[in-house]
Amino acid sequence: MSEDHILLERPQAAPGVQVIRFNRPDKKNAITDAMYRSLIDALTAANADADIRVITFLGTPGCFSAGNDMADFLGFAMSGGKGRLAAADFLHTLVGVEKPIVSGVDGLAIGIGTTLNLHCDLTLASSRSLFKTPFVDLALVPEAASSLLVPRIAGHQRAFALLAAGESFTAEQALAAGLIWKIVPETELEAETLKTAAHLASKPPQALKIARDLVRGDIDAIRKRIDEEIVHFAAQLQSAEARAAFEAFMRR
Ligand code: COA
Repeated sequence: MSEDHILLERPQAAPGVQVIRFNRPDKKNAITDAMYRSLIDALTAANADADIRVITFLGTPGCFSAGNDMADFLGFAMSGGKGRLAAADFLHTLVGVEKPIVSGVDGLAIGIGTTLNLHCDLTLASSRSLFKTPFVDLALVPEAASSLLVPRIAGHQRAFALLAAGESFTAEQALAAGLIWKIVPETELEAETLKTAAHLASKPPQALKIARDLVRGDIDAIRKRIDEEIVHFAAQLQSAEARAAFEAFMRR
């Protein structure tokens, strides 16, 4: 059941923290359209609940997320691009969240498994984590406003290496590039992430919100870039070169 693929947890050890967990380990936590809808519902509910002060993304041991589900990509391509990409709605919901977001990455973080962290305020990663966005190898283009945010954070060369050349970044490289906040041993990743989130949740919420808004800056530019990217993304998804790449993955 897709509901089980996104788990919602309120850990006693982390009061005020809503954990949203990717839980589809047999498919490396690849995110389906149904999972995006669950994520949207979870974020919307957490944003509206005054008892929730901080939202936290976690995955399963050794895997944060392998990105968008390839079968759903193929389905969108085969349908001739009918409907709206669920990922786009998820990204806009994510950007609209008015509370701090923490993520704890252990292992694989591919595609949106990497780029969603750009919308988190603090990302902790285990030392075995690997960040990769093979958009161009799949005949796709960067999403999640990564084409705006990564150059801003990491400079052109590292942005190009990650987003265009499809190079993998180790946790150390991601830290050096400013894409994550902290590296911790994998055995402590979850406890440290929850500790970080709980610490944030204990702070005066109004002051924290103002500080976050000031640090984030212009959200409209981010929304605009998400929409610009998605136009190219949806068009490329329907290209023969993208279809060939998805079919090759499905055939492996
Ligand atoms: N969509 C759908 N299914 C996926 C998936 C994805 N993005 N990533 C992994 N899976 C599935 C595999 O098809 C496989 O399913 P199966 O057991 O039914 O055959 C299962 O998860 C395990 O993956 P596998 O490839 O056997 O594991 P691995 O350890 O050898 O490799 C990855 C893991 C993540 C490196 C590899 O699966 C991969 O490259 N996935 C695609 C990642 C990607 O390009 N995402 C989109 C970015 S825009």
